[in-house]
Amino acid sequence: MKKHSPVSRSGRFAGGPAADVARFTESISFDWRLWRHDLLGSMAHATMLQKIGVLTRKECKAIVRGLDAIGKEIAAGRFKWNPALEDVHMNIEAELTRRVPAGAKLHTARSRNDQVALDIRLWLRDEIVALLSEIVDLQRSLVSLAEKNSDVLIPGYTHLQRAQPVYLAHHLLAYVEMLERDCERLWDCRSRVNVCPLGSGAIAGTTLPLKRELVAQLLGFVDASGKVQLTENSMDAVSDRDFAVEFSAAAALLAVHFSRLSEDVILWASAEFNYIRIADAYTTGSSLMPQKKNPDIAELARGKTGRVIGNLVSLLTLLKGLPMTYNRDLQEDKERLFDTVDTVRATTRLLAAMLRNTKVNGKACAAAAGDPALLATDLADYLVKRGMPFRQAHHVVGAVVALAEKSRKPLNRLTPAELRSVDKTFGRDAMNVFDLKQAMAKRNLPGAPGTKEVAKQLARWHKWLS
Ligand code: ARG
Repeated sequence: MKKHSPVSRSGRFAGGPAADVARFTESISFDWRLWRHDLLGSMAHATMLQKIGVLTRKECKAIVRGLDAIGKEIAAGRFKWNPALEDVHMNIEAELTRRVPAGAKLHTARSRNDQVALDIRLWLRDEIVALLSEIVDLQRSLVSLAEKNSDVLIPGYTHLQRAQPVYLAHHLLAYVEMLERDCERLWDCRSRVNVCPLGSGAIAGTTLPLKRELVAQLLGFVDASGKVQLTENSMDAVSDRDFAVEFSAAAALLAVHFSRLSEDVILWASAEFNYIRIADAYTTGSSLMPQKKNPDIAELARGKTGRVIGNLVSLLTLLKGLPMTYNRDLQEDKERLFDTVDTVRATTRLLAAMLRNTKVNGKACAAAAGDPALLATDLADYLVKRGMPFRQAHHVVGAVVALAEKSRKPLNRLTPAELRSVDKTFGRDAMNVFDLKQAMAKRNLPGAPGTKEVAKQLARWHKWLS
């Protein structure tokens, strides 16, 4: 064996790769992150190799101990990664074999092709669970902000124009709903991440009598009912990155939701809206304008969405022209996947913290929600209740709005006579429509922003998230 060439070149090659080739092809600079899962996979594989007689009990023990010791050194930052050994898999195996001779048997019936598929699946499975709990925490911070301001009304907007009054809580709970769908997608995606590819070898499995079920069981590749989850086709198993694409797609949609939430926060924090105040610690200043307090967390959350979407497109493009089965192109999956995970996890945490440190300006909200024009539709509903076809009612109220504008009066200051000058259907009680409290009490269909319904939804989320 040549001294400085990686094991993958031993025998067949006269020497190591050229320095620039090594630099171009290495992945240890980023895939070292998979070390913990690489070790776990190797321990399970070794345990199985012992069961089928490839390793003696003693050899297996030495390997597991050796791997454990390497893990402790990596965790402590004492392990020296060697770029000449290309990737995390060969770095760990080479060091193990240096320390434990039986390490040379560890790669029996295993290829880096099924090993790397295994490692990413194990790693991503953990990351999904961590991300899910962070999303739930963000949901809690939205619900808590809603609860603290449960009586605050704001205008709801369409086309960013004032439309109809809603509880702030209703607006915030809309994001809680979106995040819940994100959780469902991620959890569903996890079930396809949670499938064990080990035993597929480089492409075509092995002639050795491996116990794939045992490895899968040891690594927790089981479904909710405890059924072992194995890949069913060795070629698919080593070339499949669909699970990474699925995750990236779910993450991209999550990031889009963050971006929309951020946009609302940015608008609300502006002097023009003035609905919220973000605490100093969660805002940044301007290097030039001393008065500025900028909602940078929200802006970066919005901005980072671009790279998360970009990562998804990168992965799809990476896979698009690949012939079966493993191709080195697939090494390019990792940085995109890592970046997506890091970005959405950090963004989730920061948005939650920012919302926990945000106060609502009740006065500004009340002033905006008090705009009587927001209840113009209620006035049309009033006419409908008196038997007028809605299309006609829409037209009549349009004329009423025009009259109010012309006479420079808010809609709710028109006299009964003025209303009746537009249409005789208006009674003396028409102005009651503009009682905001009453108006909110009437919106109680399932999913509506009415007083009772919003309270019900808040209670439901509170219970679900506690
Ligand atoms: N570093 C490689 C990757 O991340 C591991 C698999 C390499 N396999 C191979 N036969 N060259 O994809």
